[in-house]
Amino acid sequence: MSKNKKPLNIGVLVSGNGSNLQAIINSIEKKALNASIRVVISNNPNAYAIERAKKYSIPNKVVEDGRYSERKEYDTVIAEVLLKEDVELVVLAGFMRVLSPEFIRRFPMRIMNIHPAILPSFPGLHVQKKAIDYGVRFSGCTVHFVDEGVDTGPIIIQAVVPVHTNDTEEELSKRILEQEHRIYPEAIRLFAEGRLTVSGRRVIISDCVNTRGVLVNPPITI
Ligand code: GAR
Repeated sequence: MSKNKKPLNIGVLVSGNGSNLQAIINSIEKKALNASIRVVISNNPNAYAIERAKKYSIPNKVVEDGRYSERKEYDTVIAEVLLKEDVELVVLAGFMRVLSPEFIRRFPMRIMNIHPAILPSFPGLHVQKKAIDYGVRFSGCTVHFVDEGVDTGPIIIQAVVPVHTNDTEEELSKRILEQEHRIYPEAIRLFAEGRLTVSGRRVIISDCVNTRGVLVNPPITI
């Protein structure tokens, strides 16, 4: 990591446990990621993610859903907070609200989301259960830029995990979450290093090493 470069200012939006927020904090603490979390915003006052932010003295704010009848109004409030903090990248880490087109246009290709499936398969909610019910042999997670659709933006990085025959939703979610914690800090690092260029639907990564991994599930035993 370059020592002289100014850290990337990020704002993290959360709704729940905040284990992805924790992974990002850990990566910054380890100096693997040159970023500064300027603010954590939650729509849920009971989100454990807020406790995590407090523990590290990261500025945090709860902006409750119920206080705003219009999506646009809510989004204006959080956009103002992020802009005031000079946030350069908005990181959605388990943020369970859809953002308005107006918000997205204020941060073009500067909002990332993590999704617990291999997009474009299984967008939306409860996707670990959907993957099991569908019978896929692999699932995983995706970090992508946010565009005006739901889980449709250009893909930055994905990790694949096997789906086992007797998996419960909890078991698969845990296996996926472990990979989320690896790929989210990596995606932010690539952005911070200025290595991501969006070309149509594709994200071009400069100086990218090609993976040689091929996965088969169940394994071929002959
Ligand atoms: C993660 O699995 C994340 O991928 C998912 O919520 C969980 C949040 O966990 N996000 C979505 O489903 C977004 N549609 P965390 O609060 O422990 O980071």
